[in-house]
Amino acid sequence: MLNIKSKRTKISAEKVNNSDQFEVYKKISEIGKSLITEPEVEKILISAMDTMIELSSAERGIIILFDNEGKILFETARYLDKQDLKNPEFEISRSIIEKVRKDGHEVFLRNALDESLFNKSHSIARLKILSVICLPLKHKDKIFGVVYLDNRSVLGVFKEKNFQFVKEFSDFISLAAHIAFEKNKLKVKIDSLESELRSKYSFDLIIGHHPKMVEILKLVSQISNTEATILIQGESGTGKELIARAIHFNSHRKEKAFIPINCGAIPENLLESELFGYVRGAFTGATIDKTGWFERANGGTIFLDEVSEMSPALQVKLLRILQSGEYNPVGSCTIHFTDVRIIAATNNNLKELISNHKFRDDLYYRLNIIDMNLPPLRERKSDIPILIQHFLRNFSNQYHKGDLRLSKRTEDLLLDYDYPGNVRELENIVLHAIALVDGEVIEPKHLPGHFISENKIKSSNLELKKFRNAKQRMVEDFEKDYIINCLKVSKGNISKAAQMAGIQFANFYGKVKKYRIEPFEFRSTNT
Ligand SMILES: Nc1ncnc2c1ncn2[C@@H]1O[C@H](COP(=O)(O)OP(=O)(O)OP(=O)(O)O)[C@@H](O)[C@H]1O
Ligand SMILES: [Mg+2]
Repeated sequence: MLNIKSKRTKISAEKVNNSDQFEVYKKISEIGKSLITEPEVEKILISAMDTMIELSSAERGIIILFDNEGKILFETARYLDKQDLKNPEFEISRSIIEKVRKDGHEVFLRNALDESLFNKSHSIARLKILSVICLPLKHKDKIFGVVYLDNRSVLGVFKEKNFQFVKEFSDFISLAAHIAFEKNKLKVKIDSLESELRSKYSFDLIIGHHPKMVEILKLVSQISNTEATILIQGESGTGKELIARAIHFNSHRKEKAFIPINCGAIPENLLESELFGYVRGAFTGATIDKTGWFERANGGTIFLDEVSEMSPALQVKLLRILQSGEYNPVGSCTIHFTDVRIIAATNNNLKELISNHKFRDDLYYRLNIIDMNLPPLRERKSDIPILIQHFLRNFSNQYHKGDLRLSKRTEDLLLDYDYPGNVRELENIVLHAIALVDGEVIEPKHLPGHFISENKIKSSNLELKKFRNAKQRMVEDFEKDYIINCLKVSKGNISKAAQMAGIQFANFYGKVKKYRIEPFEFRSTNT
């Protein structure tokens, strides 16, 4: 065993002594790259250590990082053959490491047993350590770790050249470890802020770690306790009502009512009397006075879902309440006053409706004091696994199903799906599976039929999908170029450009937005 080791060391030493600068630069650049891409400090330090051992003729190497009190925070200990060194505390010279940590000076020994400073060290004698290099890792003159390299089988193996290289390289490691450490600290801080945010504002029911969701939760925490009107936009099932509830229950209005009203589900004339109430005789069948939701929600919050479905006449009434808190019940001339916070939601493109004169722009600006856009689930797919776990836990508790898990194939199918119905659809899929499963494992056969067949078609038609995507991209490229050309000719005038293209204004405007084209940039374009 010993022979094998010393043979290895010898080969490595020769290699190192002959190694050209190019090899060194290559290794350094690899570590540099890993610094940018690799989030774990440990992995960066392991690869730095392996490189140093390989290029310095060392047999073993250790990087130790200390906290402010000198306690070991972290250590990477490696052998020449890229294996971890087991129990490094018994394998290295503590006295050398302690000295370097305390004094901050490097130690370079060709034969440790001959050195008066160290030859009384028990560890050096016991371990028969011959050659040692030990250097401090510093950031702004503060020692936060050491690099230690030794060799027990070749006397004087480290040459001046090796020492200089290790010295240079350890500066690099200092920087790498420092950056990686800071990155880690930042991550820990972000994680703890995120969980603080969640517990403080009881966002436990809102699942989402995707940066877009974290941004939204931050915004919710900032604006909940203000009086600002909020417009939440997002496709169906993205959680608009869930967010509206979180805003209400984190505001000072939380003791009062939260009233969700789906404007699209109530016929127009009924909606008016539901919202504002009516007086006796206001219409046939109005035999008594009735209070409306705006009065009942006084002091609380009204959530107007599908606000775009409101008729123009109701939009005017809503605008009046937003501006002054005043309204008249149906059939009454008496002015009533209410103190209600309004949160509105829509899954339609309000700007398009405004340009089609279906939605008032003054109401839009009044509602849109704070604008929240909830991303569709397909744009935050990384949240799918935690959402699944959340729904599995909830439903299996509710239906006493015990611990449930997904088979690999089921998981793949669920991760690969696009969820046009967003989180609501995923929730229903899990519920469906829980209703059907009889063991612990959810298999594809427990998923809804349409879901499986869609996925089957999807996998068998992968090529077709590729083709469709390519075609879609080409169409989009063409459309974008065409719109830009029209805008160039019309010098940024959208209606002229739409006329020129023979497309309705709203449709043209929608495409300008879709492709993020800025018409004003063409105002001074010469064609
Ligand atoms: N981030 C989330 N975490 C956990 N559950 C969610 C999340 N988003 C949505 N849900 C769940 O999905 C379902 C649909 O959510 P919600 O009703 O809030 O969506 P919506 O955007 O208002 O839909 P619609 O436009 O159809 O009214 C609800 O059961 C809700 O609890
Ligand atoms: Mg809703």
